[in-house]
Amino acid sequence: MKENYTGKPANRVDGRAKVTGEAKYAAEFNVPNLLHGVVVNSAIAKGTIKSIDTSAALQLAGVVQVFTHENRPGYTWLDSHYMDEDAPPGSPFRPFYNNQILFSMQPVALVVAESFELARYAALLVKVEYEAQPHETDLESNLPRAYTPKKYKSPPPTDPRGDADTAFAQATFKVEEAYAHPAHHHNPMEMHASIAIWHEDGKMTIYDKIQGVQNSQKYISTAFGIPQEDVQVLSPFVGGAFGSGLRPQYQLFLAVLAARELKRAVKVGLTRQQMFSFGHRPATVQRLALGASAEGELEAVKHDAIAETSRFEDYNEDVVIWPGVLYDCENVKVSHQLVDLDVFTPLDMRAPGGVTGTFALEVAIDEMAYQLGIDPLEFRLKNYTNTDQNKGKPYSSKELKECYRQGAERFGWSKRKMEPRSMKEGHQLIGWGMANGAWEAKQQEAAAKAVFSPDGKLTVSCATADIGTGTYTVMSQIAAETMGLPLEEVTFKLGDSTLPKSPLEGGSWTVSSVGSAVKLVCEKLQEQLLEQARKMENSPFKDANPEDVSFAEGRMFLTQAPAQSISILEAVQQNEGQPLVAEASQKPDKNQKNYSSYSHSATFVEVMVDEDLGTVKVTRMVSAIAAGRIINPKTGRSQILGGSVWGIGAALQEHTVMDHRLGRFMNHDLDKYHVPVSADIHETDVIFVEEKDEIVNPIGAKGLGEIGIVSIAPAIVNAVFHATGKRIRELPITLDKLL
Ligand code: MOS
Repeated sequence: MKENYTGKPANRVDGRAKVTGEAKYAAEFNVPNLLHGVVVNSAIAKGTIKSIDTSAALQLAGVVQVFTHENRPGYTWLDSHYMDEDAPPGSPFRPFYNNQILFSMQPVALVVAESFELARYAALLVKVEYEAQPHETDLESNLPRAYTPKKYKSPPPTDPRGDADTAFAQATFKVEEAYAHPAHHHNPMEMHASIAIWHEDGKMTIYDKIQGVQNSQKYISTAFGIPQEDVQVLSPFVGGAFGSGLRPQYQLFLAVLAARELKRAVKVGLTRQQMFSFGHRPATVQRLALGASAEGELEAVKHDAIAETSRFEDYNEDVVIWPGVLYDCENVKVSHQLVDLDVFTPLDMRAPGGVTGTFALEVAIDEMAYQLGIDPLEFRLKNYTNTDQNKGKPYSSKELKECYRQGAERFGWSKRKMEPRSMKEGHQLIGWGMANGAWEAKQQEAAAKAVFSPDGKLTVSCATADIGTGTYTVMSQIAAETMGLPLEEVTFKLGDSTLPKSPLEGGSWTVSSVGSAVKLVCEKLQEQLLEQARKMENSPFKDANPEDVSFAEGRMFLTQAPAQSISILEAVQQNEGQPLVAEASQKPDKNQKNYSSYSHSATFVEVMVDEDLGTVKVTRMVSAIAAGRIINPKTGRSQILGGSVWGIGAALQEHTVMDHRLGRFMNHDLDKYHVPVSADIHETDVIFVEEKDEIVNPIGAKGLGEIGIVSIAPAIVNAVFHATGKRIRELPITLDKLL
């Protein structure tokens, strides 16, 4: 029984449902009498719609309606602000609000028909005339317009510490370079889709691809003036999201709009191309200035970022916090500015800001190590910090040194020759590089409900999501372990807005937040079981308090006298055939405020660069991760592997290319937007370093969704330098930059 508890590599409890197709994703629900909506997107990046001619589409039998800004109903939200849970400061995009075009591929019409094929054909017949205005989509050429936002989405850049300018000017060794990170788009397997079902009583049931059903529920309720309890949003399975589902996307709004107007069920799904029409990791340019003493002590860090945002929202992310998180330095000055462009607002994407900022910082650190002639790992150890320099607080735990040690050993780092181009094999230049990273370990308030039925089945629920990460499995493990029940007796329910309150599934905080609520609600259930057990004749628990009782192997017993036990089933059956029900809400403990909590990673990679062709192959990769308790090493390892693979993509392939004449992302499909395939992936090793943390949250886990990606790309850049002697400061590293 115990092999399925936390810390053990349990198989996914939903694995069978997923591989057999029983698991249904938003677009897959069979709804009778369903209408299909297809979105028409703007051909220009900025301007106005002069006219929309929908007559040819409407003439087709089976086309039910074409919605545009001209006939959209005047709902409440369109005149007010609504901030969804992941909204940056500003005014959110409002589909069909008016005739203004704010970005290329903006939705301008929704064709609704009896079949998908018909809707798609009719969408081609919608004629839109535009009056284009000059647009600005190029970050580089608009840098002089950079501004400091009035409000930041994430915490604003920290105040300067010490005197970085003077310290830099006086430093013996200096690195001062610019680093460019391109735009990236989320490419989950499952594309965004929503089915909105209108009921006679005005209530709505909605299937949505989303990382937080209650966020969609609140958004729709506010946008359409429907009481929250009349909107049920369901999302039992999500085929990857990576942040793309943190905000409700426009297909949800359009499906609901059409369903309400037509009093039918309407499905709107986006195509792969349309997945490039909202949100992206923003193109960002950074300047890093590092100063060090001859002994290799970091004396000054200046980190300045300028990123793109839209004209209507000031999106920003944690790009410049990393020097303060990772290194001990007294003189630090950082800034994060924005340039507003005619694009959709950027959107959180796996380790938002961490991927971008760690890339620049960790490459600059490598550059400094080379200036000093110190091994890059040695240099990092010299400047190690046990306190978060941004917050001036100690870490609740930090086993990064152990990550270095175990990672370096597994990789064989000690055999590395410092000199670039010193490890050749025929035409292949071999390079070894490393980098480290961190990601904040946050706990958010979350609630859970537990129902224990007289047949011994436990059902625990929370309105969270499983975006492929393993939430179903891990929550079941936590509940099973706390209750001392076999995993098979536990069912975890999620993805339903009527379930207990959950934060968005993101920020790597689901295990710590929802997991802590699950643990707490199970403990409440234990109190009820104890009450029931006390009622039994000759009960050994008559005078027992909750803290005297343990639960394991299907039994409850006095901790001090384990022979005094009954089966848990017996206890629940005392309740006269009724289930026991507990509810609980778990908030972060106040003591957390005295500490800073981050997970850490150290990545070591080997690349082979073909001297003649400039091709780069990542032949070996070791990532050592310190992330508190690992609840499920199997699903956890998959998280780190996924981040590692994505890091290879970030280093070598991913780049959404904007044609600035059109103001449009051009490589908007998986043919031209390159991501790693199996042939790109070689040895990938994951080490979980033991890390005990009793402060971070009640279950001691820090989360694994994001830490796996942050240190990969810089480690590869550094390895490519070691192989070739060429320092690439603009991602991705393509052939043209190497040759
Ligand atoms: Mo994550 S970018 O918080 O889904």
